[in-house]
Amino acid sequence: MKIECPHCRKRYRIKDEKLPVGQKIAFPCPACREPIELDLRNAPQPGAVPAEPVATAVDPEAAGRLKTELLHQWEDLPPMLEVLIKTRRLLDDPKASLKRVAGAIEADPALAATLLKIANSAFYGLSGNVSSVQHAAVVLGRKTLEEVITMAGTSEFLGKELPGYGLAAGDLWRHSLTVAIASRQLALKKMPKLENDAFSAGLFHDLGRIILDPHILLEKAQLERRINEGGRHPVVAEKEVFGFDHADLTADLCENWNFPPAQFLAIKYHHAPSGSDGDMLSYIVHVADAADAGIYDSGNAEIGSPLLEDGALSFVNIDEKELAELMAESAEAVEQITGAVLSAQ
Ligand SMILES: [Fe+2]
Ligand SMILES: [Fe+2]
Repeated sequence: MKIECPHCRKRYRIKDEKLPVGQKIAFPCPACREPIELDLRNAPQPGAVPAEPVATAVDPEAAGRLKTELLHQWEDLPPMLEVLIKTRRLLDDPKASLKRVAGAIEADPALAATLLKIANSAFYGLSGNVSSVQHAAVVLGRKTLEEVITMAGTSEFLGKELPGYGLAAGDLWRHSLTVAIASRQLALKKMPKLENDAFSAGLFHDLGRIILDPHILLEKAQLERRINEGGRHPVVAEKEVFGFDHADLTADLCENWNFPPAQFLAIKYHHAPSGSDGDMLSYIVHVADAADAGIYDSGNAEIGSPLLEDGALSFVNIDEKELAELMAESAEAVEQITGAVLSAQ
């Protein structure tokens, strides 16, 4: 089916088998991110409930106030993230000794304990032989230590239960790690200089869900009506109800925390990378996120899964088979890493 965005007039082709029959649906335009609505009710399924028209509920002033209020909650970095960023800066300084780096990590005992669990996980193959942060630093080396400390530093706040999004404790951390590891692997294959930015942008891409979650819970009925009856993609429903979605919110948070611009750009466009003006990092995170679809499973796979933009796979130069293998490897790595941390809690 050929469609045209009513806002920017960009044209797309969508495979008919990907479209739900008998529903009215909406999804973000890959180019301008405004909602594209499709009324597919002309060929209703026997017994199907016709979709109700759903009005957009955004008052721009109220949307701006809510966003400012949410960003204000995390004006300062969460404590574990502050130690994490300080440690990563030290790791980037060749003059800072590993002893000094280990000292900075040990300033947060919970972070140090999680780091040791990950270092001793099956994925890093150290199998319980590392008993101190300084020992871990020496055995892992600076580069791997940075990766492990970043994973450990996000376990606490990304590991929380998010009842609004229907995510159990650990789900968002698993998803974020999978997207981080898969994004890094994609970068290594296609544009190695993006390796570190791909890992960080992948890890933090959905952070805004944490502060948006209580509001998702409050507006659950309205959001579900838009998704289930109005056929909205969950990200479009968020934008309609709040005036912004979790990708906008996360990008603003990361900008406030002085993340590198490349990272918050990729975070902003992780659901619609063609809005990024051809930014490879945005495409990489988008492909990894869309491929790890489990987090969006709302009982309606077609609508609940994030949309993979047409052309995104060819933009990052990967085919479906290669992507499936890369995702399976990433999921296996995440299982080994999170298993060591979550099973011990
Ligand atoms: Fe997202
Ligand atoms: Fe995601």
